[in-house]
Amino acid sequence: MDLDAVEHRLNLAARDPRLLFTSEPEAKFRELVKQVHPDVNPGKEDQAKVVLQKLERMRAAFTVAGTEVKNGDRTYQLILKLEEGNLSEVFLAKDQEGNERVLKMARSLTPGVRTFLKKEYDTLQDFHGRTSDPGFFHSQYFPVCYDYFIHDRRACTVMEHVSGYSFTQLKTIFHGRKIPDQHFVWIFKRILEGMGWIHKLGWSNCSLVPDHLMIKPEEHAVKVLGWVTSEKTGTGPAFVPGKYKAWYPKEKKTWNPSSDIYLAAQSLSYLFGGDPQNKKLPIGMHPNLRLFLQSCLLESPGSRVSDAWQVLENLTELARKLFGPPKFVQLELT
Ligand SMILES: Nc1ncnc2c1ncn2[C@@H]1O[C@H](COP(=O)(O)OP(=O)(O)OP(=O)(O)O)[C@@H](O)[C@H]1O
Ligand SMILES: [Mg+2]
Repeated sequence: MDLDAVEHRLNLAARDPRLLFTSEPEAKFRELVKQVHPDVNPGKEDQAKVVLQKLERMRAAFTVAGTEVKNGDRTYQLILKLEEGNLSEVFLAKDQEGNERVLKMARSLTPGVRTFLKKEYDTLQDFHGRTSDPGFFHSQYFPVCYDYFIHDRRACTVMEHVSGYSFTQLKTIFHGRKIPDQHFVWIFKRILEGMGWIHKLGWSNCSLVPDHLMIKPEEHAVKVLGWVTSEKTGTGPAFVPGKYKAWYPKEKKTWNPSSDIYLAAQSLSYLFGGDPQNKKLPIGMHPNLRLFLQSCLLESPGSRVSDAWQVLENLTELARKLFGPPKFVQLELT
């Protein structure tokens, strides 16, 4: 396998490192190091260094295996570290019934961070409690959050493991290749459906950034993470991650449904090759889809369509004109 192929396999395994490191992580690591080391990739040393770092990070992910985290008489066993989030470390874990879960553990001991993780738990619990609301397929769009507790003075939540790729991970997998326009439609539609439901319940997500939008290509599904700054409609997020600050709409303090749609449109623009930092839309995209994105990104919230269901209907109509009746086109990652 050449360097590009190993890098691609590492990127694909970001959603679950066990896809690459099967039974013998150490042996696999040694085998791959021989292929990606800068010394055996003359002329590609810079890329090789980056790939080697990724590989080392993935091996290190397994060092937590077996660690127990307890909430009273409930025990979770860590399997590996998935991600380093903004506020928390994110682990793949097993509960005592053997179910695979994601365990988020705050990196800081401060009460503020506890409040944020508790907020995420409370919001998702609220959604989960709505199962009897007719038509509210909450689990299709949002992960279930099972537990919240303090372990070793750190706030923890336990969630459903969403085995998809975040927009951020997808961008890395595509590595500059263009994602075909057809996929823009189903990805945006799923997000608008999810937002339609939560806006109806009086909630805003306030954080539809690439790290929080999880795609399952084989199901054309999208699940939304990132509920620590969720708020009731009309209130803005308590904080904005520095990395995405320039992406946010101006009305941070008077957040409304169109603000969620704005931020989602920025993330879609990023995924399809645009530059949200500078409000530049993707160049190679169909002009009508660009115009559609533009309409979600008008500066004045009063000029945007604020009803997610309406935006969804407009997009469905446009897609029909551009691509004909909806059909399932697989998003190929290789
Ligand atoms: N339930 C989950 N299933 C799969 N992956 C997850 C899950 N929760 C988090 N992740 C992964 O971990 C990353 C960081 O998670 P998240 O953004 O929720 O934590 P955070 O950055 O600490 O909190 P926040 O962004 O809400 O302040 C996500 O981008 C995603 O890749
Ligand atoms: Mg995050």
